[in-house]
Amino acid sequence: MKNSRRQFIKSSVLAGAAMTAGFSEAGQAADDKKAHRALSVLVLGGTGFIGPHMVRELLRRGHSVTLFNRGRSNRGLFPDLETIIGDRDGGLQGLEGRRWDAVVDNSGYVPRHVQDSARLLAKNTKRYLFVSTLSVYADFSIRNDEDSPLATIADESIEEVTGETYGALKVLCEKRAAAEIGDERLTILRPNYIAGPGDHTDRFSYWPIRTRKGGAMIWPGTPGHTIQFIDVRDLANFVGDCLEHDISGTYNMTNPAGAYTMGMLFGDCAALTAAAVDPVWISEAFAYEQGLIGGRDLPIWHPSTGPQASSGGFSAERALGAGLRNRPARETLRDILSWWDTLPAERTGKLRAGLDADREAELIEAWKAR
Ligand SMILES: NC(=O)c1ccc[n+]([C@@H]2O[C@H](COP(=O)([O-])OP(=O)(O)OC[C@H]3O[C@@H](n4cnc5c(N)ncnc54)[C@H](OP(=O)(O)O)[C@@H]3O)[C@@H](O)[C@H]2O)c1
Repeated sequence: MKNSRRQFIKSSVLAGAAMTAGFSEAGQAADDKKAHRALSVLVLGGTGFIGPHMVRELLRRGHSVTLFNRGRSNRGLFPDLETIIGDRDGGLQGLEGRRWDAVVDNSGYVPRHVQDSARLLAKNTKRYLFVSTLSVYADFSIRNDEDSPLATIADESIEEVTGETYGALKVLCEKRAAAEIGDERLTILRPNYIAGPGDHTDRFSYWPIRTRKGGAMIWPGTPGHTIQFIDVRDLANFVGDCLEHDISGTYNMTNPAGAYTMGMLFGDCAALTAAAVDPVWISEAFAYEQGLIGGRDLPIWHPSTGPQASSGGFSAERALGAGLRNRPARETLRDILSWWDTLPAERTGKLRAGLDADREAELIEAWKAR
């Protein structure tokens, strides 16, 4: 244990050095950690968007992985791995009597489900890692760190996951996991927008995909406005570190507050296309007037005033101190475009977030005419 703690401090120092030197060295630091004892890991929800990245990272590090899910998403994705089929809603029987070194819980949205799996696995695993969300915080107009006030829900028996209940239910999931597992063996990760190949929401992906088409394009607010996200592979890498180094505690999972702006996003997106792009920066007031706030029209961007004013200001310091490394955004954007080009036309025909071409053209006309 002492030994692994020392190694963790060493790798944090390596990671810190790599952060200043560039991501390739960080990748090297990650490679250096391959020497760890192979762990057996159960992944609850390994076949959606973020799960497969974690599974691949764990396998790359030499660990063995068992999957647990209902068998609906991405069937046949990992034919060589053991998959236990079951539903978290009362169907955990396949996990009974089995032991794993660690459990990664990606698919917990309902407190009762997390309580059931944590209770069942508490004696049969050394570590439980729960993927939560930055939506757990009570107030997005303030700069949140891990100790900020959390969302609450009046009726804690509600199990329907909606935009309104999601954050507060995740808070309850975290609490139920802690009650069953204990803080010493529990890791809670709170990501915000997760970006990268395989993202089925198209929220971050909208920006590079739309930019690549070229022409006049709406960009909201000012180029200096800060935004935050995390590359799914950086999240997966941190998961691997937490399991290998017994990292307990709660961590916001995002890029550093203030480090990345809408203007940088535009620059990175534009650098990845040969098309000429003419950014039309609309004001926040115009975005409000046109009903563009709060929906999926301008994904991952939030206005600098109002209830979401600090959505670009979550503290990532604790995770950075524990070794989180964020790759350059341009790498994320490049890989999203490469992944997008592999998808069938019925998937790429209509983005699931962002403005469609007709609406964007109308808005540009209205903005120029005001
Ligand atoms: N995407 C983001 O930007 C974002 C941001 C913050 C936090 N998160 C968190 O990230 C986690 C996973 O996100 P994701 O985008 O990868 O999810 P996803 O794509 O919806 O994947 C869900 C996974 O869980 C399994 N699953 C779902 N319901 C299940 C059930 N009742 N019983 C057993 N298995 C079940 C699915 O497989 P089957 O369908 O085969 O069961 C699949 O493997 C969630 O905890 C979410 O709160 C995501």
